[in-house]
Amino acid sequence: MAEKDDKKKLFSVSGRPIAENQNVKTAGKRGPMLLEDFWFLEKMAHFDREVIPERRMHAKGSGAFGTFKVTHDISQFTKAKLFSEIGKETPVFVRFSTVAGERGAADAERDIRGFAIKFYTEEGNWDLTGNNTPVFFLRDPYRFPDLNKAVKRDPKTNLRDANNNWDFWTLLPEALHQVTITMSERGIPKSYRNMNGYGSHTFSLIDADNKRVWVKFHFKTEQGIENLSNEEAGAIIAGDRESHQRDLFDVIEEGNFPRWKMKIQVMTEEQANECPFNPFDLTKVWPHGDYPLHEVGVLELNKNPENYYADVEQAAFNPANVVPGVGFSPDRMLQARLFSYGDAQRYRLGVNHYQIPVNKPKCPFHNPSRDGRMRVDGNEGSTLHYYPNSYDQWEEQKEFTEPPLPLEGAADHYDFREDDDDYYTQPGNLFRIMNDEQKNLLFKNTAAEVGGAEKFIQERHIKNCYKADPDYGKGVAEALNIDINEVELK
Ligand code: HEM
Repeated sequence: MAEKDDKKKLFSVSGRPIAENQNVKTAGKRGPMLLEDFWFLEKMAHFDREVIPERRMHAKGSGAFGTFKVTHDISQFTKAKLFSEIGKETPVFVRFSTVAGERGAADAERDIRGFAIKFYTEEGNWDLTGNNTPVFFLRDPYRFPDLNKAVKRDPKTNLRDANNNWDFWTLLPEALHQVTITMSERGIPKSYRNMNGYGSHTFSLIDADNKRVWVKFHFKTEQGIENLSNEEAGAIIAGDRESHQRDLFDVIEEGNFPRWKMKIQVMTEEQANECPFNPFDLTKVWPHGDYPLHEVGVLELNKNPENYYADVEQAAFNPANVVPGVGFSPDRMLQARLFSYGDAQRYRLGVNHYQIPVNKPKCPFHNPSRDGRMRVDGNEGSTLHYYPNSYDQWEEQKEFTEPPLPLEGAADHYDFREDDDDYYTQPGNLFRIMNDEQKNLLFKNTAAEVGGAEKFIQERHIKNCYKADPDYGKGVAEALNIDINEVELK
């Protein structure tokens, strides 16, 4: 009998040794195949089911394991145990991604990048599912499915379509801040190591006295920001579609571990009430002069996954996964994400996706949900499975109750455009801090992209840019060979 622990020998999934893996079983030398060739059936049936749905966006990605180490005390803001003392280390898994391209897309494309971190804390998993930009295209989640349709393929041509893309973006002036970043020199990072990460939304921190502050999370690259021009990116893609994956994998194999410094901006509830802009608006940053960065710790990636599919493809990040001491905010976009990710993952990976090793909390926990496809963890055995019961099973943990959040106003579909519509000051500020070289790149990159759209859409973008800063509008017009005097700027 064969030794089953010999990893080099071939077995079926039922543990039976396989004698033949090169010639199917046929009736006679030249005859048809026999259905009793069970190993062929198993092999082919498994192959037929090997593809799972790709993520609807952020489909192409790279991941690595590492640690987060606290270097500065922020326990005055949060009781979260991962921040409880200087020197404390928490294991993490990080997945970076491009957004619009499919699973086989080239890495070095002009696009925002996903920067998703799973902290395996002693109080459960905290998933900070962010991007490499501090803002986003939208501030209302109704628009999110449309954004993806506009930037992905046209239903008829099956091509990425500049007209669809820019028609949508230019109709939403709140997108201008993110569009400006995407068209700037930062629009194509050289690698995943050479970019910052941001939680982007406003979140909350809750201290030991159950007091809340609002917070923004930043991860500043220790490798330095480095970007690619369109020409450099084109040359890279011509020879290598996996440049980010290769870079991340290789540097970790070489022991050259990438690091980011985690920093936070803090706003008290009182400051939020006085804030001149909506502090929960995802299209805006908090000015650093008013809300300075506090250093917190260092994120280091130091271990490649042994198996890409097991850990990277099956990773499931969910903004709803927070730990005591870290909470949400009223940001409409964040609120929508709290539903969307778990829902997508129940479809993409199944209802028990949290049991997949990369997703499973590393702390002890038990949970009353039962059964479902691929339940492989013992299913809570004979534990009582209803609540309330007379046996103290599934006791609530009231000590983790968050402080109440004061709210006001009647429920309605409020249009933020009616009283909160300054989409131009912050993109204008960003434009104004660019040097001439950066501004020229912004004009050139914008023209290269919006140049594929109809002229009235190009003009609409010029008008939006002009409102942010007249020189921004003029520069884009010039790069597009459009006479700004002929553009309706009002
Ligand atoms: C992936 C929805 C906005 C960052 C995803 C996925 C969904 C989704 C359904 C795929 C999840 C999966 O299959 O595992 C939404 C919705 C949004 C939104 C409904 C707004 C209403 C954002 C924003 C950010 C972001 C604002 C960043 C600040 C990411 C990242 C991933 C992702 C990084 C990939 C996570 C991974 O590496 O597995 N999003 N998203 N998304 N989203 Fe969003």
